[in-house]
Order: sequence, then C-alpha cells, then structure tokens
Amino acid sequence: MGPPGSGKGTQAKRLADRFQIPHVSTGDMLRQAVQSGTDLGKEAAPIMASGGLVPDELMIGIIRERLAQPDATSGYVLDGFPRTTEQAEKLEPILAGNGGGSARVLQLLVPDDLIVGRLSGRLSCIKCGSAYHQKNNPPKVANVCDRCGSELTVRPDDTEQAVRKRLESFHRQTIPVVAFYRNKNVLHEVDGNAPVDQVFERIERFVGE
Ligand code: AP5
Repeated sequence: MGPPGSGKGTQAKRLADRFQIPHVSTGDMLRQAVQSGTDLGKEAAPIMASGGLVPDELMIGIIRERLAQPDATSGYVLDGFPRTTEQAEKLEPILAGNGGGSARVLQLLVPDDLIVGRLSGRLSCIKCGSAYHQKNNPPKVANVCDRCGSELTVRPDDTEQAVRKRLESFHRQTIPVVAFYRNKNVLHEVDGNAPVDQVFERIERFVGE
C-alpha cells in the first residue's frame, strides 16, 4: 500500500521477481482493459483519467477471478488492492481460501510533496506495467522498456489535477484500510523516500523475517 507514486509498482515487481510469484496490480489490469477496449475498460477509463476510484464490486470481482488462477496458488504480490475498507473486508474470505494466514501488508511512506515530482517525470510501459522516471530511474534506451522492449508512454492520470485527486482519494478512502491492517497486526511501514535499491533492501529484510 502507499499513495500514488510511492513506488508500489516498482517494488512489487521486484518482490514478485525475487520470489517468483505473480505481481497482481489492479492498476495494470485496468490499463490493459482500457487499451483492449473491453466493457470494463470503457467503464474504467474516465474514472481513472480523473483520478477517482473504480466501483468496489467491479474490483472485487476482478481480484476474485485473478487469485483463482493456478499461478496464484503459491502466493502473489497484490499492488493497488485493497484501497477501500469494503475491498479489504471482501478480500478476507478470498485470502482465507488461499491459505491467507501468512498475508503481510507493506505500507510505503512517502510525503505528499514529493509525489507530484515523481509522477510528473514518470514513463510507463502499458504492456508489462514497468515504471521509469526521466531523471531518477531512466530506461537504458530512451522511451523503450528494459523488461519487454515496448514503447514507454506518459499515463493520462499523471496530470497535476488527476494526481491531486488520487492523493485525496488515498487519504480519504485508503488510509482507513491501513488502520484495518494495523489492528490485525500485519502492517509493516517502510520509508519509501530513498533510492529504489535501498527501499527494496528494506522490504526484503522485512519479508525475509
Ligand atoms: P494504480 O496504477 O494503482 O495507481 P496509483 O496507486 O495511483 O499508483 P501509481 O501507479 O501512480 O504509483 P506507484 O505507487 O505504483 O509508483 P511507481 O512504482 O509507478 O491505479 C491507477 C488507477 O486505477 C486508480 O487511480 C484508480 O482509478 C484505479 N484503480 C486501481 N486499483 C483500484 C482499486 N483497487 N479500486 C478502485 N480503483 C482502482 O513509481 C512512481 C514514479 O516514481 C516512477 O516514475 C518511478 O520510477 C519513480 N520511483 C519509484 N520509486 C522511487 C524511489 N524510491 N525514488 C525515486 N523515484 C522513484
């Protein structure tokens, strides 16, 4: 968990590679649906572009279906879900069915005033979901994804107005989910305001424990 631009996607991908388990990102799944022009994509596109949240019932259905796939039986890294209390409550029985006793929650802490700078320089790969930054984390070849070779683009929700709305949604709708997991004693906070490798070392240390 973490605010927009806190590095959830960057770190979740690394964690998934390190443990050879799927990276399940609801943002990536929605962006692929938008690009393919599915009914879900048509419904989600204007909501995402404005920085709002897609309705809970839709998101819960997508996650239930994804976590029932055979590649998720040995674990997975969830990125961007749950982000409302209703999503967190509906996830509980799904986790229980997947041996969820060992579920852990990581929250990346990054101050709001750094977020706009990170997102305004972001370059994203729609195909594999990798994120780069023009200054902090550039691709090896300009505008080409290191992982899959696809062209990099600027996300339509990385405008200043949409980023502010996403931050507002995070504080209003997702911070209560942090409290939900804190009460269950499964929450671990990680300072995300450091270089990518250093943040990953902190996460690895926690997961190793
Ligand atoms: P989603 O794709 O989940 O977007 P988000 O939460 O706004 O987060 P971001 O992807 O913008 O940032 P991130 O934390 O992954 O950071 P990243 O690693 O890319 O969701 C998009 C939209 O889909 C939502 O707004 C909503 O509409 C909808 N949606 C998705 N899930 C939903 C759900 N469950 N319910 C309802 N609606 C849902 O890094 C950001 C930048 O910073 C990059 O340029 C990166 O290179 C750079 N960076 C990363 N780490 C560092 C570092 N340590 N130092 C410096 N720069 C760094």
